[in-house]
Amino acid sequence: MTDTSTTRVAQLAARRHTEIISDRVVPCFGLRVAGLGAAVPRQRVTNHDLAQRLDTSDKWIVARTGISARRIAGVGESTVALACDAARRALGNANVAPADVDLVLVATSTPDSACPSTASRVAAELGLRASGFDINGACTGFVHAFHTGAALLADPSIRTALVIGAERYSSIIDPNDRGTAILFGDGAGAAVMTRAPATPGGPGVLATDLGGDPTGIAVIEVRPGSPYLTMDGPELFRRATRGLVASATAALARVGATGADVDLYVPHQANARIVSAAAGRLGIDEAKVVFDMAERANTSAASIPLALEAAQRSGQLTAGMRVLISGVGAGLAWSTMYLRWDQ
Ligand code: UT7
Repeated sequence: MTDTSTTRVAQLAARRHTEIISDRVVPCFGLRVAGLGAAVPRQRVTNHDLAQRLDTSDKWIVARTGISARRIAGVGESTVALACDAARRALGNANVAPADVDLVLVATSTPDSACPSTASRVAAELGLRASGFDINGACTGFVHAFHTGAALLADPSIRTALVIGAERYSSIIDPNDRGTAILFGDGAGAAVMTRAPATPGGPGVLATDLGGDPTGIAVIEVRPGSPYLTMDGPELFRRATRGLVASATAALARVGATGADVDLYVPHQANARIVSAAAGRLGIDEAKVVFDMAERANTSAASIPLALEAAQRSGQLTAGMRVLISGVGAGLAWSTMYLRWDQ
């Protein structure tokens, strides 16, 4: 080992502190979400609006999904524009100047263009000195990006990361397909992540999980050559619920924790029934679960940061909580982070 790498390992170790979870001492990587921001398009499309042109009803959609309305992007409301709006708000709430951002990560599966990355366009738009890259993890993209940001904050040259989930699913949804048109909405959520001092009980990452089941790749996809997303709803429902539960259970088990050690559960906001079923199987009381799909529907990679921002604004998410964020999506892929929250 060279002197430089020895120094890095020592620096890394210094950024870990300990937590007591279920009478067990667990290491915690010091990390803080300094600010959150949200942005949704102006146009609100209700279930009643959809029922005017599709063979569906408000009653059916609410009962099956918990969704009443969604925001649909119009002219000027690109993925980059939504990402920038959310990022500006997150930076403002964090009191972090754009010049202090070292890294931009954007989770999106609906970029405005293939090249350059949405992260580069956001950096250019916001006048950042930093750049970064996109992560396409579909509905679990934000958790992948958060995980990546946390890992890169271990690098001494990166002190502040802007992590964004931004989607414009209306661009890949067949407006005449009632199976998918009722489910998705557009929006963006952003988090400013910084290192936190290694203080016992302080904010940070307690445990993570990353996994998936590629045998489910055809269950939800945009087939090569097709403009639209296709989905086997009932099969996805089963697999998504199983994936959320498996991932959260694996992350919690790494530190000897269970659902009883979760103060707030913020899973991907796919569908209220999926969220309820997963929370029930994990033994997490519904009072500790964030449901944020009623007015926004499923915003894919944006759903978790939007839900975190809403929970914080309403007072449901407060400092010191042990927060479990879990995503599941196309691939199939899933990921979880178990965090000690602080702002
Ligand atoms: O991030 C992941 C994104 N995807 C998801 O989260 C989707 C997961 N899946 C689901 O949430 C549910 O499967 C849906 C909400 C999509 C559908 O609910 P379901 O209870 O699984 O319904 P189903 O597909 O089994 O269909 C039941 C009935 C069928 O009619 P019949 O055959 O019983 O006469 C469907 O044709 O409901 C019919 N149906 C609808 N009726 C009114 C399907 N879509 C609709 C609709 N409005 N939009």
